[in-house]
Amino acid sequence: MAETLLVTGAAGQLGRLAVEHLATLHPGPIVAGTRDPAKLAGLPAGVAARRIDFDDAASLAEGFRGVDRVLIVSTDAFDRPGRRVAQHRAAVEAAARAGVRRLLYTSMPNPEPGSPVVFAGDHHATEEAVRATGLPHTILRVSWYQENLLGSLPGILASGIWTSAAGEGRVPYVARLDAARAAAAALAAGSAARETIDITGPRGWTVAEVADLASRLLGKPIRVLPLEDAALAETLARHGVPAPMVPVIVTMDRNTREGRMPAPTDAVARLTGTPPRTLEAFLEQLKGSFPVAA
Ligand SMILES: NC(=O)c1ccc[n+]([C@@H]2O[C@H](COP(=O)([O-])OP(=O)(O)OC[C@H]3O[C@@H](n4cnc5c(N)ncnc54)[C@H](OP(=O)(O)O)[C@@H]3O)[C@@H](O)[C@H]2O)c1
Repeated sequence: MAETLLVTGAAGQLGRLAVEHLATLHPGPIVAGTRDPAKLAGLPAGVAARRIDFDDAASLAEGFRGVDRVLIVSTDAFDRPGRRVAQHRAAVEAAARAGVRRLLYTSMPNPEPGSPVVFAGDHHATEEAVRATGLPHTILRVSWYQENLLGSLPGILASGIWTSAAGEGRVPYVARLDAARAAAAALAAGSAARETIDITGPRGWTVAEVADLASRLLGKPIRVLPLEDAALAETLARHGVPAPMVPVIVTMDRNTREGRMPAPTDAVARLTGTPPRTLEAFLEQLKGSFPVAA
């Protein structure tokens, strides 16, 4: 009998894309787990919605019942320290208790102790929780999304200046859709492996290279202004970046500068059969999306 596969966080951007791709790959039952099933209108035929909220133990016990393999999508709960890791541990442990036989988790690159990234500890602790179940698993260490650039590019294009503490470090930006398709493919494959995979785009980019590319494709010169961490934090705060986001950005830059982002891998192509989207293609499709004053 075909196994039952479940994706948590199915109303989120990655979760939704993963469910849609999974429906093209898996002939058996698929469950879309979310805090609010009302948000899941228009799911592919045959996909059942279930309420799963990592803050609600009863929903976890009920939600994972009869499920064989689970993709746990990391949450966005940054409001108080410790909340996200408690959520993830609750989900991992509930899945194991419910008899799930294979776990997948969306982590980040190199989250081990020593990572400067403020949220790395959440991912490291969750990876450890997944491994501690003893179950076959795939930890998907997803590089930063290409789409993250959408947050900063409008301001960069408006000012012509890209403040950065990333130095000469490289980021192998990945399309969110490619990460979702890779996760769905790994879930559908159902191997018995215990593995940790870097999910990346096709090449690593320095900030200067992304600035050059964006200048060329989006029609506005961009100058990179290298800053120390403290000066970057001060500049971001002065330009209205929300306070909780400031250390996130600064420590992600530091992480890049220290060479802690992975080299590009072939994981997306290997799992999905399709090469990952390039950063050139991503930026090309943004042409005309932003007002670029001369
Ligand atoms: N690699 C990167 O560059 C990058 C960038 C941003 C975020 N991320 C991480 O990757 C995850 C997926 O990315 P995304 O683009 O899909 O983010 P998103 O659209 O902001 O989705 C947030 C996700 O968190 C889930 N969630 C929040 N609270 C939850 C709870 N109490 N119980 C269960 N699930 C909960 C949501 O599920 P429901 O709404 O369906 O309940 C949803 O899947 C994010 O949550 C974050 O951990 C990675």
